[in-house]
Amino acid sequence: MENKSSNIKHITSGLATQSLQDKSLTNPVAGVNPIKLLPWLHVVKIGGASIMDRGHSAILPLVEEIRRILPEHRLLILTGAGIRARHLLSVGLDLGLPVGSLAPLVASEAGQNGQILAELLAKDFVSYIDKPTISSQLGIHLAHARAVVGSGYPPYHNHEFPDSRIPTHRADTGAFLLADALGAASLTIVEDVDGIYTTDPKGPEAESAKFIPEIGYEELAKQKGTLPIDKVVLELMANAHNLKRLQVINGLVPGRLTAALRGEHVGTIIHTAAGK
Ligand SMILES: Nc1ncnc2c1ncn2[C@@H]1O[C@H](COP(=O)(O)OP(=O)(O)O)[C@@H](O)[C@H]1O
Ligand SMILES: [Mg+2]
Repeated sequence: MENKSSNIKHITSGLATQSLQDKSLTNPVAGVNPIKLLPWLHVVKIGGASIMDRGHSAILPLVEEIRRILPEHRLLILTGAGIRARHLLSVGLDLGLPVGSLAPLVASEAGQNGQILAELLAKDFVSYIDKPTISSQLGIHLAHARAVVGSGYPPYHNHEFPDSRIPTHRADTGAFLLADALGAASLTIVEDVDGIYTTDPKGPEAESAKFIPEIGYEELAKQKGTLPIDKVVLELMANAHNLKRLQVINGLVPGRLTAALRGEHVGTIIHTAAGK
């Protein structure tokens, strides 16, 4: 009889017998920095409430600016959610829906905003692509078009973390995670304020608001009160592997996005742990 066991191929693996929870054991294999998959990519996140909800007065000049800078860069443009998501949230919360049901509802508005933006850039060969296409075919799309648009929301959807009644992982989070994972050249977050202030420059304490031109993620995390970006991004920045900084800029001021994409300091730069 043939001895079948001699034909068995033994596969060796550095992690074969390790607990995946013990860093001292996994580090020889997992402790190296990930490669930059798309180092030429620039990620731009466009605010839902701050830009898209303002309609043509904010969107059309920004679209023109994006159109003019397309020859210089390859862009992944990600959109956030705004007023329609807030309405969905208030109805859903009133009905007692769990956060895992609310997250995909809210994310659907970010997708709608992305589709609107893509239509306005369609004649420049820009299209809206869904999350699975961003995950697996961004390279081929950007080989044929200078930019694509997608939803900024990370696809946690029904798996959204139940640590809050309002989804904590929103479009800034999704944009940050993608930019870091893809090894992008930059991440620019487009808002309707010049950057981050010590307190909301449109809030009740606006008079005492001081502009912060540059700050580390740890220091910003200590600041009390609201921010124009998802707070969870500051936690994620502690584990950034590729992205050294991001910049928050005012998309209502002509030329700011162009300057930011050229590497100029025109808003608030937040440094991540990868920049240390
Ligand atoms: N510390 C802060 N610095 C700057 N802006 C702030 C701050 N706290 C709150 N904001 C407000 O956040 C607004 C943007 O809201 P946000 O929900 O981030 O919009 P979007 O959905 O477009 O990202 C700004 O117009 C500003 O009034
Ligand atoms: Mg914002």
